[in-house]
Amino acid sequence: MNEEYHPTMHTDDVGSLPHLPGTELAGVGAIGPTGRPLPEFPDPPRLTSHGPARVIAMCNQKGGVGKTTTTINLGAALAELGRRVLLVDFDPQGALSVGLGVPTHQLDTTIYTLLVERGHDIREVVQRTRTDNLDIVPANIDLSAAEVQLVGEVAREQILARVLRPVLDDYDVILIDCQPSLGLLTVNALTAAHGVVIPLECEFFAMRGVALLIETIEKITDRLNPRLQVDGILATMYDSRTLHSKEVVRSVVDHFGEQVFHTVISRTVKFPDATLAAEPITTYAATHTAAAAYRQLARELIARGGAA
Ligand SMILES: Nc1ncnc2c1ncn2[C@@H]1O[C@H](COP(=O)(O)OP(=O)(O)OP(=O)(O)O)[C@@H](O)[C@H]1O
Ligand SMILES: [Mg+2]
Repeated sequence: MNEEYHPTMHTDDVGSLPHLPGTELAGVGAIGPTGRPLPEFPDPPRLTSHGPARVIAMCNQKGGVGKTTTTINLGAALAELGRRVLLVDFDPQGALSVGLGVPTHQLDTTIYTLLVERGHDIREVVQRTRTDNLDIVPANIDLSAAEVQLVGEVAREQILARVLRPVLDDYDVILIDCQPSLGLLTVNALTAAHGVVIPLECEFFAMRGVALLIETIEKITDRLNPRLQVDGILATMYDSRTLHSKEVVRSVVDHFGEQVFHTVISRTVKFPDATLAAEPITTYAATHTAAAAYRQLARELIARGGAA
């Protein structure tokens, strides 16, 4: 990221850059929003059997970058492709649960119960959503106590992995929506996961903290979970009209190369609207380019081997 950034670069002055397409819907072979030619992400074959699940943590300790939005909508897009998907709300704010219409304050059992009380089975807590093939383990504010309560536990980093084990064969993908921190809950998510998806908001400070996140992932790979890998870095809230968004995406691609998904998620009010309606974008605005973007992300993830 260049140090000479000036706020006026937020303007629509894109004249000095070669044209980069503004949407995710550029054709195969055309230059995509990340400045690279877009490969084809074909519809994957239907699965004839299900499981074991690949577990993916949606992770960035920076707040408001699109973790929850991506968990819901990538999950829904994978479910549309016939994948059995479980979403795990791992943030005491419960935004994932609320975003899928689960009334969190009325819940007696949540992910918190599974983490801190022995003798429960995750299947007691899993709820179906209104979307076929899309289930959720909800959370609410109770989860905020877990971090302190688990500190003294034996193998405290592996508790979520143990909680998920009984349902691994029931799903093709499990997506964990992490809270914006690198504390013990996030360490549990990374220890339970096969892969990490890192959403980055297309704004000036996007890369701030990413080095620390990568360092944390490397430590977990060394010490707790050798199979863990970065599945991809996802540029979110991209505004094709601003030079600034394009510069951020370019600098993310300069740093992370092929780890950056070709799919880029544009900024649109359809996302907060869908959250209010407690629906994924794929049904709330099924024909909008925002829904198409998450469908493309699902196909890209599968093409990269990040999901079956
Ligand atoms: N592509 C987008 N375009 C416009 N708004 C978006 C987009 N993605 C997410 N948002 C909105 O931005 C806000 C933050 O998104 P989201 O909750 O997904 O981020 P988060 O990383 O999960 O945040 P937190 O760190 O607080 O958990 C929400 O109000 C959401 O509706
Ligand atoms: Mg969130």
